[in-house]
Amino acid sequence: MKQFSQEFIFGTATSSYQIEGPASVDGRTPSIWDTFSYTPGKVLGGDTGDVACDHYNRMEEDIQNIKNLGVDSYRFSIAWPRIFPKQGQYNPKGMEFYKKLAKRLMEEGIKPLVTIYHWDLPQWADNLGGWINRESVEWFMEFAKKCFEELDEYVAQWITHNEPWCATMLGYHQGVHAPGHTNLDDAVKAAHHILLSHGQAVRYYKSEFAGQKPIGITLNLSPVYAASETMNDQLAANNQDGYLNRWFLDPIFKAKYPEDMMNLFSKFVHDYNFIQEKDLQIISTPCDFFGINYYNRFLIEYSAASELLFKEAYSDYPKSGMGWDISPNEFKELIHRLRKEYTDLPIFITENGAAFDDVLEEDGTVKDHDRVDYVEKHLTVVAELNEEGMNVAGYFLWSLLDNFEWAFGYEKKIRNLFCRFQNAKKIYEK
Ligand code: FCB
Repeated sequence: MKQFSQEFIFGTATSSYQIEGPASVDGRTPSIWDTFSYTPGKVLGGDTGDVACDHYNRMEEDIQNIKNLGVDSYRFSIAWPRIFPKQGQYNPKGMEFYKKLAKRLMEEGIKPLVTIYHWDLPQWADNLGGWINRESVEWFMEFAKKCFEELDEYVAQWITHNEPWCATMLGYHQGVHAPGHTNLDDAVKAAHHILLSHGQAVRYYKSEFAGQKPIGITLNLSPVYAASETMNDQLAANNQDGYLNRWFLDPIFKAKYPEDMMNLFSKFVHDYNFIQEKDLQIISTPCDFFGINYYNRFLIEYSAASELLFKEAYSDYPKSGMGWDISPNEFKELIHRLRKEYTDLPIFITENGAAFDDVLEEDGTVKDHDRVDYVEKHLTVVAELNEEGMNVAGYFLWSLLDNFEWAFGYEKKIRNLFCRFQNAKKIYEK
């Protein structure tokens, strides 16, 4: 049993499109994920978020479940098309839902940790170019300001964006997430505008709200290892690290984009003039904490055939149901690197968890051994990091509920993403 300090925050997390359902009530209009999931072939089994966990109707029941888990905090996100169903048109009815949720959580002694953007861009915004259009920064600011104005008194902590890498590289480069574009030029512009909107929001919040509540951003980070000592594999690992980690870490913490990656990308990104003077200063506006979603490491090898000259190598590590390497030791190395190269801010692990197939016991129950083992290993790392003084201030299990797992839909094998905190929580103590 590992010991955590009284101040340590244990929580669990979700996001709006993955759990809410009721896609067209109380004035909500479609998001890019509604459009994408309705496009044949984009989501496994043709699944959509129309119903999902019906959280929109079952909020109170879900709050009771959170309460019964005994966690300190609950992380959720706000569906932008509920708040601004049309450009410039505020919908108080949509905001009411989140106000009620945040208020009820507070009453139950659970701290609301709010993510402003977890990927459900309104379709109207995408029709105007989405994140590729620099005006998206203004649209986001209008949305974020309303969230601050209406919710700040009930919120414990703010996250501007969840995983800009996924929102942009999966959404605009690899095409496997909404809006499904497949070019790096779009992705790099979209990433820049998302980062800029993050910086603007932090600046605005800190000046207008006198920095009342801690505000930060969440990145998905994975440490990257070369499959061999060869020069080519080392180069490939550096490229994946640049694409996944440094392209986001460097602007946020060092006010610059990594030059090696700018050069590599320039085969596909013909013009970097979308990066305007002062943008990087804004992007690197200091935050109060840093959020990390950690799932796995990457083992990488050289591939002349791939755009960025790398691909995943065969790894003999045990895997989660997503096929991801279970890699708690590398989790520790990641945090060490961040402390050395990037930041002293308090770190929150805003997501961690694993999908596994259900294994039935003889008595017909599911004991969830693999998931408990995964969470135990990662929580142990967090405890050890804190013993070393690494200042990890919180841990949020993904997820509170089985939910719509983006392009994987509700596919059976993946469906059990990360629930059952009940089992996991047996293993820690404050
Ligand atoms: C993260 C996302 C979250 C969920 C988990 C499995 O990338 O933030 O919504 O899909 O992965």
